[in-house]
Amino acid sequence: MRQKTTVGEVDSSVLAYTAGRDCVLDAALVEADCFGTAAHVTMLSRLPVRPALIKPADAKRVRAELRRILLDAQEGRFSITLADQDVHLAVERRLTEKLGDLGKRVHVGRSRNDQVAVDLRLFAKTRLLDAAEAAVGLIGSLLGFARRYEQLPMVGRTHMQPAMPSSVGLWASAWAEGLLDDLTLLMAVYELNDQCPLGSAASYGVPLPIDRQMTSDLLGFSKPVHNVLHANQSRGKLESMILAALGQIMLTLSRLAQDLILFSMPEFGYFRLPAAFTTGSSIMPQKRNPDVAELLRAKAAKVLSQANLVAEIVRASPSGYNRDLQEAKEPFMDGFEVTISSLRILSPLMAGLEVREVALRQAFTPEVFATDRALELVAGGMPFRDAYHEVKAHLEDVEGMDPDAAVAAKTHLGAPMGLDLGLLADRTGEAAAWAAEERAYYEACRNTLLGLKGKKDPSRLTAPGSAVGCPAGREAERVRVCK
Ligand code: ARG
Repeated sequence: MRQKTTVGEVDSSVLAYTAGRDCVLDAALVEADCFGTAAHVTMLSRLPVRPALIKPADAKRVRAELRRILLDAQEGRFSITLADQDVHLAVERRLTEKLGDLGKRVHVGRSRNDQVAVDLRLFAKTRLLDAAEAAVGLIGSLLGFARRYEQLPMVGRTHMQPAMPSSVGLWASAWAEGLLDDLTLLMAVYELNDQCPLGSAASYGVPLPIDRQMTSDLLGFSKPVHNVLHANQSRGKLESMILAALGQIMLTLSRLAQDLILFSMPEFGYFRLPAAFTTGSSIMPQKRNPDVAELLRAKAAKVLSQANLVAEIVRASPSGYNRDLQEAKEPFMDGFEVTISSLRILSPLMAGLEVREVALRQAFTPEVFATDRALELVAGGMPFRDAYHEVKAHLEDVEGMDPDAAVAAKTHLGAPMGLDLGLLADRTGEAAAWAAEERAYYEACRNTLLGLKGKKDPSRLTAPGSAVGCPAGREAERVRVCK
């Protein structure tokens, strides 16, 4: 059966197959699509072309209608139908319904290919900032926990076997520092994402004097993607890089979750998960199961494979746009959702984690001090290898030491008593400031262009790029933006 669509007729089974889940997934792209279209028509209306492609007063009417679409969407009053296929044609249909011929003018000088590319980059921008903020929250919880139990002795393990005296502070702040490194990677992909593909059209540009720099500035991007073909075919690869960065966060979280499961088992009993973050059993009344941490391990596997899945989707793509790219949308959006919700749930869990000092101290069997004992012999002048063999030959004679004294003796940089938690807190603060600046700038550009409330003049904001992770020099680029 043939079915009418916004751009011609097509067999209904082909339409269902090709539109796939776009009608549902694209609901998350309405804001980006309206913002992108507003920038595009504004740029068109400012071109020195006679007759004008779109008159300035008409561009204003389009922007006003785009604002209404956005507000309608927020109240669930904007739908993307199968006949639309996707958000791009749904927005164009609505503009044409409301503005007549003017609605039919907005698509000049662009293609759905660069439109979806810009939508995904704008979507990614806000979600990357959500992820960064959620990571900052969890790092804060971990550092708070590390500070509370900074000097509390905890057996350090290698191969899961008791190894050397350590502390709860060292354990907790190691995960915090790991997440800070993951954030550095996140900022790097943010920067790659922060380039505007709009105006590249189908992949080869258009025979019109469009101003891609202006569109990029209006949308608050740091710069346009230069090559129009690259602008299109970086889609998919970019999503895969972003998912890989999210995957690194999940990798850290999954291993932390594994520790939490292990150390809260009764056999260890170092920690007790807050009751609110455990679940019971339908048959065994005593159960307090670590479902959150278990699911986290599985969700980490998902995000890591989503990065791989998207790379596989584009692996054999020839140059230019290929529809395969559409299939990357779902894992991309899901990867964000999973990572952000995982960061958000672990933060209160860590804040409420109970510590069982008795169990932590009981784990200090004499063997844990074997290396410390050998180093005592070294301090008396014995070569290390001789001291090692001496202790090894009489392991049963190694006496227990005071765990607190053993921890207190490790004072060098990064060791249990040489931890600079303030340094890690400063790095966290810088990441938080970076995310806040980037978000304020994005929102100011969006609100200015669409005439939304909370309008701030973007040119008055601190230029993003002045904080960590971003090269200096972007500041100059930012100043003339969004006027
Ligand atoms: N939904 C499509 C996608 O995600 C939009 C672009 C369609 N372009 C095309 N040439 N059919 O890729």
